[in-house]
This record gives sequence, structure tokens and C-alpha cells, in this order.
Amino acid sequence: MSAASAERAAKHNTAPENAVAAASFAAEGAPFVHVMGARPNFVKAAPVVAALDARGVRQAVVHTGQHYDDRMSAVFFRELGLPRPDVDLGVGSGSHAEQTAALMVGLEREFTARSPGLVIVYGDVNSTLAAGLVAAKLHIPIAHVEAGLRSFDRSMPEEVNRRVTDQLCDLCFATSPEAVGHLANEGVPVERVHFVGNPMIDTLLGNIDRFDTDALRARLGLPAAYVAATLHRPANVDDPAVVARLVGRLHEVADQVDVVMPVHPRGRAALNEAGLGDHPRMRLLDPLGYIDFVTLVRGSTAVITDSGGVQEETTILGVPCLTLRPNTERPVTITHGTNRLVVDSELPGLISKIRAGETSGAATVADVPPLWDGHAGERIAGILADQ
Ligand code: UD1
Ligand code: UDP
Repeated sequence: MSAASAERAAKHNTAPENAVAAASFAAEGAPFVHVMGARPNFVKAAPVVAALDARGVRQAVVHTGQHYDDRMSAVFFRELGLPRPDVDLGVGSGSHAEQTAALMVGLEREFTARSPGLVIVYGDVNSTLAAGLVAAKLHIPIAHVEAGLRSFDRSMPEEVNRRVTDQLCDLCFATSPEAVGHLANEGVPVERVHFVGNPMIDTLLGNIDRFDTDALRARLGLPAAYVAATLHRPANVDDPAVVARLVGRLHEVADQVDVVMPVHPRGRAALNEAGLGDHPRMRLLDPLGYIDFVTLVRGSTAVITDSGGVQEETTILGVPCLTLRPNTERPVTITHGTNRLVVDSELPGLISKIRAGETSGAATVADVPPLWDGHAGERIAGILADQ
């Protein structure tokens, strides 16, 4: 550990409960280091990086390489104005232990060399957890963007990642009032928690004029009405028997309306093996860039998904969202949005009702979730830079 980081570590240890002290490391001129590695991280980080940049804060971007295909990674940097990563650790894929271990080794080396004043982590992926563990043991303050979400389903790797990260971090930035409540219930001191809104929605609203549904329809040759689908949760795409059942249901939906599905690499082999494309109205695509994907969603009749972020984006776009999961860590998308948890057998009937205008999925609450107003990144930057 460098002398500078040892000094910071000592200082941090004297006031471990004090988030204000953690944030004040910015004043020393040590960089804020953003750690990102998987598709949803990039969408959440873009407005935070931009808002800190506008305040002249010194920062660096560490890409872990958890996602590495152009369509899972580089396209987001090109489209969202993220700076080129200062380093790409190139960690890649593996089992949870292999991937998390490789992430930790790479991040420890990187943090030791860079002596960050603050490490900023996003969401709930393995890169988030690994960065939290490494930074905590190097006594580097940590801010977690999208803290406090809970599905209460420990079978999901993301739930383990979220819970551990929130216990380690000095500053918790929450996207919903429920998240603030979960952190309080878990004993996170209130002064560490800030309800700031949702940076993923900043990105959506900041790009709203770029989502031209007519142009996308023409370019991809899409029909006037279609359902957009995405699946990548292990519970849905890892077990061949489950995959076969879901493919059967998607084909039943395709019997009534075209289904357009950009296929996440995780499920590609199993879905192909189960004959996903063997239906004339199933349109399979590679993963789309952010602008094309959100445009696809915006122009759709409904979305079938198991994505976390897509539940939030459909809430703001007002598109009915059928989430193929037994639970969600984002219940605000049900109470204030268009989201509905479903089992596969419900899909054909619900799509039929949505098409007939019998149900929209919209909540009875007129307002969108509080503070999902496009300014979360600025609030986060304000809290980080002003303390
Ligand atoms: C990860 C996150 C998940 C998040 C998702 C977003 C964890 C534990 N999971 O899941 O929470 O919702 O990202 O998309 O962190 N692959 C490629 N190319 C890539 C990346 C992955 O082909 O660029 C394939 C590899 O076969 C890999 C598999 O996808 O084994 C899974 O990738 P991984 O990052 O381990 O998990 P995801 O399922 O993508
Ligand atoms: N997304 C994208 N292209 C796609 C599918 C999704 O750009 O083909 C975007 C989507 O709009 C959202 C983010 O990726 O911003 C969500 O990522 P993902 O579903 O992979 O992860 P999760 O949110 O479930 O963790």
C-alpha cells in the first residue's frame, strides 16, 4: 500500500462510521475510481461520470472486462458518452468463484496502483461485489449506486452481491424509498444513505429524443405491432427443461403477434438448442446497443423480460412489462409503473388481453416513482463533491 493510501486508511479507520469523512477524501485530490464491467453498469454509470466531470472532479474508469463483446460493452461507451476506460482488466467469464477471484486480484492491483480517494460501484453484478470487497480491505471508501434493492431471494447471485456490498460501503445511493427502508432494517447508519433517484432513468430521459421508433421499424423491417423479449436470468436460461418450456410459451405468443428478441449471450446456446428460432414470427437478434434496444422497447406492444433494468425503463416509457420471475427487487415498478410478475403459462393470455386493450399493466398510481426525474447523477455528484 502506498504511503498516501496508508495515510488515508489510518484516517478512515479512525472514523469508520462517518460517511462525511469518507466523502471528504475528494479534497485530497485522489481520483474517484468508477468500477464497471457488465452491461447495466455502463447505463447507470454514464450520468454519474458526466455529473462529476461537470464539477471538475478527478476520476478514472476501471472496466473489469466481465462483459467483453462489443455489443455487451464497447457500444455503450460509444453511445453514452462514457470516457474510454483508463484500464480494462479483461477478466472475462467463469464460474462465480473463478470470476470473482480474478476480479479481486485485478482490482487489488489496480487500486493499489491508483490510490483512489473513493471507489464507486454500480448495481449488483460480480464486479460490484469484488470491488467492494477489495476496496474495503484496502480501507478505501466505497460508494454504492443503486444500494438497498432486495428481492429477498438468496438463490439469485445478485441478491448476495447487493447485501454484501451494502454492508461494506460508506455511502449508499438509493433509487427508491423501499431501498432506504431495507438499508435501515439491516442496520446501515442513516447518515450513510442518500435517496437520490435513478441514474438508469437519467440515461433514458437524457436520450429520449434518440429513440426513433419509426426509423428503427424501417431499418429492421419490423411489423407495426410486436412484442419485445429478453431473457438472461440463470433461473430461466440455464436449465434445458425450463428453457424448452419458455420457448414453447414464446412460440404461443408468436402465434398471435411477432416477437423480437435480442438474445443475451448467456442463454444463446440453450435457447437455440430448444428451437427458439423455429417459428416464422420469432425474430432473433444479437444483443442491441442501448439506443436501438430502448427504441425497440418504446415501439413495442409489450415486453417479456427477466431484466432488472428493463422493468425500470418500461415503467418510464409506459410500455406493459411482463416479468418472468417470482419476485422483484424493484417493486416500485409494479406500484408506480407498468410491471407485472408472471409465470410462463400466463403469457399468451396476457399478451392477448394487452393487444385487445383490456389491460395495460399500468399501476393505478398516476405518478412515476419519486425522483426518477433525470437528475440522480447530479444529486450523487453533489453529495460526493460538496462534502
Ligand atoms: C451478469 C450479472 C447479472 C446481470 C447481467 C447483465 C453477475 C453474477 N451476473 O450476468 O446480474 O443481470 O450480467 O447482462 O454478475 N458472455 C459472452 N459475452 C460477453 C459476456 C458474457 O458471451 O460479453 C457469456 C459467457 O458465456 C458467460 C455468460 O455469458 O459465461 C455469462 O456472463 P456473466 O458475466 O458471468 O453473467 P451474466 O449472465 O452476463
Ligand atoms: N439493453 C441493451 N441491449 C439489449 C438488452 C438490454 O442495451 O439487447 C439495456 C437495457 O436497456 C438496460 C440494460 O441493458 O439499460 C439492462 O441490462 P441487462 O438486462 O443485461 O441487466 P440487468 O438490468 O438485468 O442487470
